[in-house]
Amino acid sequence: MNQKRLVCLCNHVTALEIKKKLRAGALTTSEIQKFTTAGTGCGRCVREIDAIVEMYKTETLKDPQLRIIFK
Ligand code: FES
Repeated sequence: MNQKRLVCLCNHVTALEIKKKLRAGALTTSEIQKFTTAGTGCGRCVREIDAIVEMYKTETLKDPQLRIIFK
């Protein structure tokens, strides 16, 4: 996944910004919306945010160290 790709065009939020919030402790799409404003405009990107959240949860279940090494 290209980390600099815009996920939310309305609010100019990238995949990297979403991942940073997940690594900082956000656990749900609602929290991503709250902390980044992604998905709070037209709503078209909410499914993609859901997918990123689920992918991140799957990755960290496989390797819990992923949550620790982020800076
Ligand atoms: S593209 Fe994200 S709210 Fe419109």
